Amino acid sequence: MPSLVVVGTQWGDEGKGKIVDLIAQRADLVVRFQGGPNAGHSVNYAGKSLVFHQVPSGLLNPKARCLIGSGCVIDLGVLRQELDSLQQAGVSFEGRLFLDRKAHLILPYHRVLDRLREEGRGQRKIGTTVRGIGPCYEDKYSRIGIRVCDLLQEDVFADRLRRNLAFKNFLLMELHRADPLSSRQIRREFLAYAQDFGKMATDGSRLVADALNRGEKVLFEGAQGALLDIDHGTYPFVTSSAPTAGGACTGVGVGPSRTSNVLGVTKAYTTRVGKGPFPTEASGRLANQLRRWGREYGATTGRARRCGWFDAALVRYAVRLSGIRRIAVTKLDILDELTAVRMGVGYESAGGFLSDFDPTVPDLKPRYVQMPGWRKPTSVARRPDDLPREARAYLARIEKEVGAEVAIVSVGEDREATMVLSRSRWFQ
Ligand code: IMO
Ligand code: MG
Repeated sequence: MPSLVVVGTQWGDEGKGKIVDLIAQRADLVVRFQGGPNAGHSVNYAGKSLVFHQVPSGLLNPKARCLIGSGCVIDLGVLRQELDSLQQAGVSFEGRLFLDRKAHLILPYHRVLDRLREEGRGQRKIGTTVRGIGPCYEDKYSRIGIRVCDLLQEDVFADRLRRNLAFKNFLLMELHRADPLSSRQIRREFLAYAQDFGKMATDGSRLVADALNRGEKVLFEGAQGALLDIDHGTYPFVTSSAPTAGGACTGVGVGPSRTSNVLGVTKAYTTRVGKGPFPTEASGRLANQLRRWGREYGATTGRARRCGWFDAALVRYAVRLSGIRRIAVTKLDILDELTAVRMGVGYESAGGFLSDFDPTVPDLKPRYVQMPGWRKPTSVARRPDDLPREARAYLARIEKEVGAEVAIVSVGEDREATMVLSRSRWFQ
């Protein structure tokens, strides 16, 4: 199968960065298809931890080309910084990074409005990353957004900016009692970006089709996770894009017949950053242990993540949404010291037992199964046989409950701390 779509199956932060980096060693083209700098994908590289926000993690494979697809929203200031820090780490991207001309740009007013709105919501905050994601996608769907191709025509950009800013400044001043933004300053900043990034602009759909037609391996890298999906997630506590596998088709311009191979990335327990329902959320000692052992602090915002047991019914829902056949289970080693591990397998709701997760049903109480812990280090394991029997039983239960084959198990941050169970040539 020449293409592979990698998606998150929980609320993001499943360890997609590490898994994509690993698989991208075999890819010719790596493509982000949705989201923007709200993502934070950490990858260990030459002894350093690098965090990618917008750049596909595949950039670390010097032979791979990388594309930021039309379904993404791009903050060129953040991208500039990201590329500068990659350059410092010795990663060259000359001629290898492309931006779809149709991708929408995050403008300073998007970031300011994201923050002011969150502040104004009081108790009803979503807990966004305040990177301007929601306001930028709103403009896209209101058909007033500014795209990469618009930036490349100075007068088109100036005209759109002027029209938009007139309305945004009205909102800033009249609704939020905030200072207006200067059109001239934004124009100057963005004209410099046009110089820097103009040569990266391309027809992403064409780039991907040509690669697939040549028989090259194309990896589609999802950001966020299924439960943050704008349609199928825990609305309104979601992001503004489609992190499910279908998002790869619309967010790149490629047909479903060419994206049917889907790998889900699943953390061996559950975390969530930001507000919203989280049925298996733990409190007290367990939450603190998972947070400390798993270093569960946001790569983008530094916020402490909420932590809890693995929710198999939730991941089964993600498997359904994206047609996932294989999963990569990450951070198994974080559970090493527990005497017993639990797993949610369905929910008690007002109407009786629910085996499926349903984001429209409030206050789901998980039904758990309990299994013995292994209390041995798994981080040294390099083959499934090296794992303690109880850890293997835990993985087998995950496989059975979620209805997808465990193809990869990760037991540490480094590339070596990975076991590949599947014979798919993407992973070997
Ligand atoms: P990666 O790709 C975890 C969450 C935010 C908030 C909600 C909406 O690293 O897994 P937004 O800024 O997108 O409007 O915020 O979505 N969120 C993430 N949580 N990992 C992410 O990305 C996230 N991107 C957005 O915390 O709850
Ligand atoms: Mg993250």
